[in-house]
Amino acid sequence: MSGLEQRIHDAVHGQTQPTVTVLSSLLAVEDELGYIPKEAVEFVAGFSNSTVNDVWAVASFYPNFRFEPPTEHLVEVCWGASCHLVGAMGVFKSVIEAAGMDDEGDRADKRVTVRFNTCLGACSQAPVMSLDHHLAGRVNPESAAKNVANLLEQEGHGS
Ligand code: FES
Repeated sequence: MSGLEQRIHDAVHGQTQPTVTVLSSLLAVEDELGYIPKEAVEFVAGFSNSTVNDVWAVASFYPNFRFEPPTEHLVEVCWGASCHLVGAMGVFKSVIEAAGMDDEGDRADKRVTVRFNTCLGACSQAPVMSLDHHLAGRVNPESAAKNVANLLEQEGHGS
């Protein structure tokens, strides 16, 4: 078994909640690896007596699953109602520009991913962004761009 297969195996078998489903198994893999490799789809299909197609159907329904290994840095911009009302749109534009990108997604050199989040759970500090899972509240377009520039000067969280 390869290292990747072992981690998939352990993540799926390590679930302790009473109800284990295709979705919970995929979430366990995403938690462990940061993405769902095709080996995991095959493994979860075997584990849950489903077909690979059924597992893909569940996996592709959830927009937060990734199917590629994570990039070095993750920047999320909250797009929830509270943040929207106080300028999330401007923050998002500025973040995309600071990252040297045209839209959300992975930058071509895999140094950063920018994506929306529907609520980062800190609405009282809106507008909110997160940088490698660290929240930054009450940002504005200028501070958000600075945060992204600082992040991109650092080594990736995986290295
Ligand atoms: S709506 Fe932005 S943190 Fe909740």
